[in-house]
Amino acid sequence: MSDKLMIMDHPLIQHKITLLRDKNTGSKEFRELINEIAMLMCYEATRDLPMKEVEIETPICIARSSIISGRKIAFIPILRAGLGMVDGMLALVPAAKVGHIGMYRDHETHLPVEYYCKLPSDIEERDVIVLDPMLATGGSAIDAIDQLKKHGCGHNIKFMCIIAAPEGIEALSKAHPDVQIYCGAKDDCLNENKYIVPGLGDAGDRIFGTK
Ligand code: PRP
Ligand code: URA
Repeated sequence: MSDKLMIMDHPLIQHKITLLRDKNTGSKEFRELINEIAMLMCYEATRDLPMKEVEIETPICIARSSIISGRKIAFIPILRAGLGMVDGMLALVPAAKVGHIGMYRDHETHLPVEYYCKLPSDIEERDVIVLDPMLATGGSAIDAIDQLKKHGCGHNIKFMCIIAAPEGIEALSKAHPDVQIYCGAKDDCLNENKYIVPGLGDAGDRIFGTK
């Protein structure tokens, strides 16, 4: 297994993923779960944020204590489904900027088609976490990260998904070996339509109630 892959097997994350997979979970609960899982994953994905010591005054005395050292972060959801993770991430890192990359998979070729890209103007100075609940073939994640690198962003890119197929993990690790991948579950395989098995179905449709 790639040392750039971390499967977040915390019981709270696993429990919520089981609820997500259930086809009887409706859009409202599905959206809430996606955000809650994103928040739990954000906690771990920001573990390496650099710290610095500052001097503060407690009600008792002057003390030195640690804060995050002002490094800039951007969250980049891949539309549509990645949008479902943004609020959970911002709940923990409210000062982060948010860029958007719009992509959909062509139904016949299963290849991603990009239709939108709007990034923070200082993206090359920021650490980036790309958000998408699903890593299936890996095509969308690879193209989104290609796009970020074209915009000068390259020093610290992480990819966070909730469910990944082995095929997607392999393709993304090969295309972008520098990118740390966080996922909640590594599933069995892809089916003939390139959906993740057992997966949770179409994440965008389930978040936005479009099917
Ligand atoms: C889904 C998902 C990913 C992509 C993953 O988006 O949210 O972006 O498929 O598949 P891949 O790894 O094979 O590229 P989809 O194309 O369904 O678009 P949507 O979010 O707008 O529904
Ligand atoms: N996109 C989804 O939303 N689900 C899958 O299983 C694969 C791609």
